[in-house]
Amino acid sequence: MKKVLVIGSGGREHAIVYQLSRSKQVVQVFCAPGNAGIAQLARCVDIRDTDVEALLAFAKEEAIDLCVVGPEAALAAGVADKFREAGIPVFGHTKAATRIESSKEFAKELMAKYHVPTAAYRSFADYEEALAYVRERNTYPAVLKYDGLAAGKGVVIAQNETEAAEALRDMLVGEAFGKGKVVIEDFLQGPEFSFMAFVDHHRVYPMPLSQDHKRVLDGDKGPNTGGMGAYTPLPFISAEEEKWAQEHILQVVADAMVAEGNPLTGVLYGGLMKTPDGIKVIEFNARFGDPETEVVLPLIESDAYTVFHAIATGEALDTIAWRKQATVGVVLASCGYPGAYTKGVAITGVEDVDGLVLHMGTKRQDNQLMTNGGRVLMCIAEGDDVKQAQQKVYHEIRKIHCANLFYRKDIAHWAIDSINMSKKHRQK
Ligand code: AMP
Ligand code: GLY
Repeated sequence: MKKVLVIGSGGREHAIVYQLSRSKQVVQVFCAPGNAGIAQLARCVDIRDTDVEALLAFAKEEAIDLCVVGPEAALAAGVADKFREAGIPVFGHTKAATRIESSKEFAKELMAKYHVPTAAYRSFADYEEALAYVRERNTYPAVLKYDGLAAGKGVVIAQNETEAAEALRDMLVGEAFGKGKVVIEDFLQGPEFSFMAFVDHHRVYPMPLSQDHKRVLDGDKGPNTGGMGAYTPLPFISAEEEKWAQEHILQVVADAMVAEGNPLTGVLYGGLMKTPDGIKVIEFNARFGDPETEVVLPLIESDAYTVFHAIATGEALDTIAWRKQATVGVVLASCGYPGAYTKGVAITGVEDVDGLVLHMGTKRQDNQLMTNGGRVLMCIAEGDDVKQAQQKVYHEIRKIHCANLFYRKDIAHWAIDSINMSKKHRQK
C-alpha cells in the first residue's frame, strides 16, 4: 500500500488529492500545506510549498512512495530535482524544464526553432530599444510580456504608444519587476482554451479540453482573476482540431524538450487560441491549470496513482481513460476579489451540495469553515452535456451560504452560445 505526498494548497491540489485518495493502491495521502477541504481526505502538514529541504526531510521520514507537485513556484524552486536526486518518484518537471512556463523567451525561442504556431515576437532587455521597436512597428494592440514570474501581472495589452511606453518602463526600468527581458508580440484574436496533457519524455497523454473564465464579472467584464470558473468539453473545437493540436503542438513540444535536454515529466498545459489562421499558442504552463483541473480531473477513469506514478518513473501506459461526461465548475470568491477582501467569514451548507465542492482558500476554526483567500470554493457538477451540468451547478451552488462570497452566473456561456448558434445554423 502506497503513501503519497501532494504539494500545494488550492483547488487544483484538492482535485489531485481527491483522485489519489480514491485509488485502491493508496493507503495515505499527505498534503503540504493543504487546506480545510483537503484535510478531510489527507493529513495536512504545515510545510511551505517552496521549502524544498523540509519537504524532502518529511518525505524521507514518512517513506513516501510518490510525490505530486501542484504549483509552479514549487517546481521553479527545484522540488522535483531534489526529490529525483534523492530517488523518490516525483510527478513534476525539473527546474530547467519548468522554464517552458517561467521564461517567456525560452518558450518563444523553442516554438520558433520547432515551428510551433504562435504570435510573431521580438525580445528586449533595453527600454530605449524596446520603445523604438514599438514605435517603428506602430501596430496596436501590442502585447508586452515580462520574461519571468510576475504573479499574473506580466502581460499588458497596450492600445497605443503611451500605454506601451508606460508598461515597458514598469517592466524594464522600474523596481516592481526583476531583471528580466520583455517579449513584444502580435495581438491574436479568437476563443482561448486549455489543452493539458500528461507528458513523460516523448509520451503525451491528452486530457479533455477545457476553458477558463478569467474576468471577474458576468459577460467577461472587469479585471482579470486567477479564474472564476471552467468547464469541459468544448463544442467549438472539433475532434480534428483537437488531434491537430495534440500532434503539432503538444507532441512537438514534448519531443523538442527531450531534444534540448529538458525532458518533461508532469503536465504540459497549452494555453491555445483558435485564430482565423488556425490554432496558435498563447502560453505554456508547466503544471495543471487552475481552475481547469477541478473540472477535468474528476473525469479520469484510470487509477490516478497508476497514472501519476507511471509519469514519475517513466513506465509506459497503454492509455489514460476518461469518462465522457460534461462538467461545469463555478468559483465562489470573496467580495472585493481580485482587489482587497476580508478573510475569516463563516461558510455553511457545503455538505448539502449534491456534487463536488473543492476548496481553494479555506480554513477551519473551532470546527467552523471560514473563508481564507480570494478564491474560496469551487462547486462542480456533472451532466450528459454542458447545459445539463450548468443547470445542476447553479442549482446546487445556492445551498452554500456565506455573507462575503460571490460567483459568476454565466460560467460555460461560450459553450451554450456555440451550441445554440450551430442549432440555428442547422435550422436554416
Ligand atoms: P499569458 O500570461 O501569456 O497567458 O497572457 C495572459 C492573457 O493575455 C492571455 O490569457 C490572453 O488573454 C492575453 N494574451 C496573451 N498573449 C496574447 C496575444 N499574443 N494576443 C492576444 N491576447 C494575448
Ligand atoms: N487557468 C490558467 C492557469 O492555470 O494558468
